[in-house]
Amino acid sequence: MVKVAIAGGSGQVAREVIDALVAANKHEITILSRKAQPISNTTAPGIKWQVVDYNDKPALTEALRGTHTLLSFVQLLSDPGEKSQRNLIDAAIGAGVKRFAPSEYGSKSTIDMPWTYGKGRIVEYLKEVNAKSNVLEYTLFQPGLFLDYLAFPHQTSAHLTPLQTIFDFANRRALVVANHADDAVMTLTSVKDLAAIIARAVDYDCGRWPATGGVRGNRLNFAQVIAMGERVRGRPFKIEKVKVEDLEAGELNTSWGLEAVHHAVSDEEASALLKAVCVGVLLSSTKGAWDSSDEMNRLFPDYEFASAESFLAKVWEGKE
Ligand SMILES: NC(=O)c1ccc[n+]([C@@H]2O[C@H](COP(=O)([O-])OP(=O)(O)OC[C@H]3O[C@@H](n4cnc5c(N)ncnc54)[C@H](OP(=O)(O)O)[C@@H]3O)[C@@H](O)[C@H]2O)c1
Repeated sequence: MVKVAIAGGSGQVAREVIDALVAANKHEITILSRKAQPISNTTAPGIKWQVVDYNDKPALTEALRGTHTLLSFVQLLSDPGEKSQRNLIDAAIGAGVKRFAPSEYGSKSTIDMPWTYGKGRIVEYLKEVNAKSNVLEYTLFQPGLFLDYLAFPHQTSAHLTPLQTIFDFANRRALVVANHADDAVMTLTSVKDLAAIIARAVDYDCGRWPATGGVRGNRLNFAQVIAMGERVRGRPFKIEKVKVEDLEAGELNTSWGLEAVHHAVSDEEASALLKAVCVGVLLSSTKGAWDSSDEMNRLFPDYEFASAESFLAKVWEGKE
């Protein structure tokens, strides 16, 4: 048994991971939150709720004393300059935390996705603090896009709010980059599988965590995702092709775009961000950003991931 602290543990992805850790029933779990009041679903017996102020480094260090593994799910969209996560890393080092996972849980690279650049800066910071000697073991869990989002608007997990993507199964349509349907790859991993892998990684005691923790639930090119969509939805999709040059210029010349926004985004930011997400995901997919590596698959070779097609066939069965 080790002590596991979960920063941003009140969030949606964190709660999936907490459920997996609680089910394994092996570790002592502490949720770090800025909120005084524990939220529902985080009050299972044995879970401690610790109020923290990310601006108070000495108190944060005290709060982390005795922690073996620290998982961060801090929402980067509302952490300007990554102040909270930087202070969290400093406090973790001060408290002698052994292992850390920054708030990643997405693409392999942040290229062309400005709203994720903070993740890259945190990786740089982790390299910097470890430059002279290894003071904090860490891994970047990178599962690609949550498979659950291809079920939008249907909810497929306990805590993850459905989100629309460029693969719009509900309306049988998709956006692709012209001439890249076969070479742009999308890694699709269910949030439940990511949580199960993180729970196994927390147990892992046969060596250090790999610095990159690729999680490859399903690796499909865009053409394969669409073909799968057409099979599970029973009819052809309307495909719109966008040009790389337009995307590079920040243009999205399509008849539709994303409308459902993540809960961390304010109304004022929503429309610009939704367009940037479309442009960024499409453009970055042509540069391998969503082609996750498979370090975690190799660490846990017996783990069976949900197949994208079986998962989605079940979701869409009988739905118009
Ligand atoms: N691969 C995918 O498809 C995918 C999809 C969704 C999310 N993700 C990734 O998963 C991670 C978690 O995302 P999420 O959607 O679960 O997050 P979330 O629910 O929006 O937020 C997580 C937590 O962050 C904390 N937080 C917010 N602003 C903060 C600040 N300034 N300082 C410290 N803590 C702050 C809040 O906790 P308290 O208020 O309790 O302190 C909140 O509950 C992110 O890295 C995100 O990019 C990946």
